[in-house]
Parts: sequence; C-alpha cells; structure tokens
Amino acid sequence: MAREIKTYPDPVLKKKGREIEKITENIKDLAQEMVETMYQNQGIGLAAPQVGESLRLITVDVSGPDFREDLHVLINPELIELDGETCTEEGCLSLPGFKCRVTRAEEVTVKGLAPDGTEKVIQATGLLAVCLQHEIDHLNGKVLLDYSGRMKKIMYEKKATKRKEE
Ligand code: NI
Repeated sequence: MAREIKTYPDPVLKKKGREIEKITENIKDLAQEMVETMYQNQGIGLAAPQVGESLRLITVDVSGPDFREDLHVLINPELIELDGETCTEEGCLSLPGFKCRVTRAEEVTVKGLAPDGTEKVIQATGLLAVCLQHEIDHLNGKVLLDYSGRMKKIMYEKKATKRKEE
C-alpha cells in the first residue's frame, strides 16, 4: 500500500535517519511501500523520511515516471566516491511547487544493502547520480531548500507554512 508523503515543513524531513541494523520483515514491507509510493506519485526517487520513517532507506528509478525498469532499493546507502561537477534543476515530492538548480558530483559510487541483505555497489553518472545524492541528502535531514538562495527559501517557507495552516 502506498504511503502518504510528508511535505515541508514536517520535522521528520529535517531529522537524520537512523542506520538500519537488521533487515526485518517490517523494513522489507516499508521498502515495498516506498516503491509503490514513488511510482504512484510519478517520482524517480524517495527516501524513508519522506514517508515519515526516520531510517536510512532509499528507492530510486530514473527510468520513471514513464517506465519502471531501473529500480534500486538501498538500505544504509553511503557515497563512497564523488567525481566531477554537474548542475541540474531538481524538484522534490516533499516540496510541491519548488524547483532549484543544484550543483552536485557528476559521477558517484554508492554502496549499500539490497533488501535481501546482499551488498550493492552502484556506479552512477547523469540523472541517476544526481538522484542518489538527492535521496541520501534526505537521510541527513537535508532538502533542496538548503541549496537555494535565502530569499527564495524564505518565500517558499512562508507559502508552505500557510498551506499547512489551511
Ligand atoms: Ni526529495
């Protein structure tokens, strides 16, 4: 079942996610629900804090939203290598209506665990590299707003707070 997506300024988005020590059935279910939530919302990536779980778990599929052909589910993902520089306009399901350009590494190597416990190493470039870095940011309590200019951030915060109050 798909979950509800937490939007800014929900405090869970600012919290550092906990390391997953044991891959229980609950964790596997959560991973499955995140995949469904990501696809249902036409996303190409999702991090557990975005569904209210402060845990280190991400799902990514940059073949989406049109295809569902390149799914990665990573537990405790870690960026182990970063190279180059690229600047892309990004959006986020937790920041409806917000977009900003972010400079990130162009190539990354990410290490983590698959839900079956096997170690996964992903070498990525382009959109996949950007998306992995974006989702790992979520695990560290960081959102796109933290990359935007001060005025743009304040304006969005005002709008988001107003939306929550309505
Ligand atoms: Ni996001």
